Amino acid sequence: MNHLLSIESLTAAEILAIVDLAKRLKATRGQEALKPLAGECWGLLFSKSSTRTRVSFEVGIRELGGDALFLSSSEIQLGRGEPIEDTARVLGRMIHGAVIRTFKQSDIEIFAQLSGIPTINALTDEEHPCQILADLLTIEELRGSLEGVKVAFIGDADCNMGRSWIWAAARLGFELRLACPDLYRPPTELLERAGAAVTITGDPEEAAHGADILYTDVWVSMGKEDEAVHRAAQFAPYQINDSVVKAAAPKAHVLHCLPAYRGKEITSEVFERNAGAIFQQAENRLHAQKAAMTLLKS
Ligand code: CP
Ligand code: NVA
Repeated sequence: MNHLLSIESLTAAEILAIVDLAKRLKATRGQEALKPLAGECWGLLFSKSSTRTRVSFEVGIRELGGDALFLSSSEIQLGRGEPIEDTARVLGRMIHGAVIRTFKQSDIEIFAQLSGIPTINALTDEEHPCQILADLLTIEELRGSLEGVKVAFIGDADCNMGRSWIWAAARLGFELRLACPDLYRPPTELLERAGAAVTITGDPEEAAHGADILYTDVWVSMGKEDEAVHRAAQFAPYQINDSVVKAAAPKAHVLHCLPAYRGKEITSEVFERNAGAIFQQAENRLHAQKAAMTLLKS
């Protein structure tokens, strides 16, 4: 594995190796003998806001022996129109790895190709692989195994999280149900390419029926703010609330990648009842990303 650009680009073995190593790194945090990033400086190039991703990478890079440089696109020439091709060729000569949060998936792919350094997708409009890896670790911890898990994703199934779930289901072969408005269905081309066992419905309770994991994300992803009013109307029936939870398996867990908007994609009550698992997910970002960076260096 040279880069972590998407779940689509990983094999099942690579996904499971990251989850497995993340478990071991979590259990031995603070006692790390391995410092795979010793002497290295990694750059975090962010064109969108972040709390979890930024902090978990900054901390994780330091715990692995490296140093981290946060580069907001609004403060570097990239934000004034310098091409990604030139940014990649400059930074590739100075930093040892890059963690990029941006809009276009093609930008991180170009960066990876032209910089020649390990490159990690910290969220694009198309995928959020680091979140999925942390979520898989969390599900394994909650259930003891990923085997036979039934996941229901309710909300914007065409956003980065919905799409990364489709690829995770395709690679690992678990059952994924998507509940979304017609306008926010993932493209048929993507579903065919993934070949995952995905069912799509307009009814959140139908998707939730017997599911082990109910998952949601914001209705308005970063960069879509000017669609907020339209999206609020479209997604109103796609809230995780008590009725949806009742339709799920008796011991189902509700997960959320965060940030959460209570009263929109999830009720406050459902959120707080599942806060333990949701914040476990957030913590697992650190462990999963440390595992991914360690494997990128091996
Ligand atoms: N879940 C997630 O990526 O959070 P941030 O946007 O805070 O990084
Ligand atoms: N779909 C959300 C994920 C936030 C972590 C967004 O792109 O804003």
